[in-house]
Amino acid sequence: MNKNTPLRIGAVGCGMLSSSMHIPAIMRIPELDLVALCDINPERLQAIASKHGATRTFTDMEEMLDNCELDGVSIVGPPSLHVSGAKLCLQRQIPFMTEKPLTTTLDEARELAELAKKYGDCGMVGFTSRFSPANRLARQISRSPEFGQISYIATTHLTQCSMPKSIWGIEDFAESFVKLHGVHAIDLWRFYGGDPVEVSASIAAFKVAEDGQSANGSILVHVRSEGGPHGTIHMKSGASHNGDINADVMGEWSRVRMENDQTLNYENARGGLRQMMADDILADTLLPDTPVGQFVGTGLQHFSYYPDFFRFEWMAFARSLQRGLPLSPSIQDAYKTTCLMEAICESLHGGGVSCQLSAVS
Ligand SMILES: NC(=O)c1ccc[n+]([C@@H]2O[C@H](COP(=O)([O-])OP(=O)(O)OC[C@H]3O[C@@H](n4cnc5c(N)ncnc54)[C@H](O)[C@@H]3O)[C@@H](O)[C@H]2O)c1
Repeated sequence: MNKNTPLRIGAVGCGMLSSSMHIPAIMRIPELDLVALCDINPERLQAIASKHGATRTFTDMEEMLDNCELDGVSIVGPPSLHVSGAKLCLQRQIPFMTEKPLTTTLDEARELAELAKKYGDCGMVGFTSRFSPANRLARQISRSPEFGQISYIATTHLTQCSMPKSIWGIEDFAESFVKLHGVHAIDLWRFYGGDPVEVSASIAAFKVAEDGQSANGSILVHVRSEGGPHGTIHMKSGASHNGDINADVMGEWSRVRMENDQTLNYENARGGLRQMMADDILADTLLPDTPVGQFVGTGLQHFSYYPDFFRFEWMAFARSLQRGLPLSPSIQDAYKTTCLMEAICESLHGGGVSCQLSAVS
């Protein structure tokens, strides 16, 4: 791979998120060149192709892979497309990024993790929150010696969206919601705290809408890990805020809170905030070009906004390939998030029974 030549990217799926976030993000990065588009819907495909200039178009992903000598692939569609697309790319060893959720079943996630082990893990899953500068910095702080051992982590995902009765073949309000939206907060817990051993989940204020097609409620998960932190994951539909993702991490005399993927507050009863910030932490943590932010009171406000997170994902993708570094979060990493997501669903289906992660991995 020539470092000075832009990477040739093919985008599969030209739907809402791809056309509004991923494709514009790819087109803003000089290291990437969008050379091909693919969608099974020919009208949508042509509309997006004409909007974004001359590219080759395909209605079949395999045909695109076999004809375009791609350096990377964007896969943004229903999870069934993430699975079939990931398999094609893993078998051909073409680096790719899929949207979340990687899969809706544990078997599919396990199969992808095994393929990644066999052929090489050349995939990445776009868990958006992992690319917010506030989260990257909060995680770095939480892992510093000054912070001490992490004892507690709470993550939340609040959205005004309802729980759909069915989506992607899932026929259960709570499970649909966990896999469609809650997975952000689930993955974020792992981003800070690693892999738990046990969860139990309950649902409160569950109310089905009159048409029977949607519902609202609050899902709370208790998380326990062995020798590591415990905490909670809270996912709420019908919330006062939309897409509000938060993390609260406590150490020894210390606490870091990340609000709405944007604002970071760090408290340390022994002091040291400014010193830490003066360190190389910002430089180590953030991708080049990310907004460094500004102190507001005791907090750090990052002036990034939602579309930037997708740009940061693609910058991380481009730079990892150019530097020969592994992509992250990888398919094997996303498999572990799927295990946690499945354990939570199993507990919900069992009326709040505790579920060991070893039972679902
Ligand atoms: N990270 C985030 O914050 C975030 C936000 C919204 C959506 N998403 C995820 O993005 C994904 C896409 O969501 P969306 O709202 O854009 O969906 P969408 O339905 O608007 O778009 C999906 C597109 O995929 C195409 N497609 C389906 N099967 C295909 C195949 N086999 N080959 C080629 N194209 C195929 C469809 O024709 C459609 O154009 C979902 O998995 C969703 O979970 C993530």
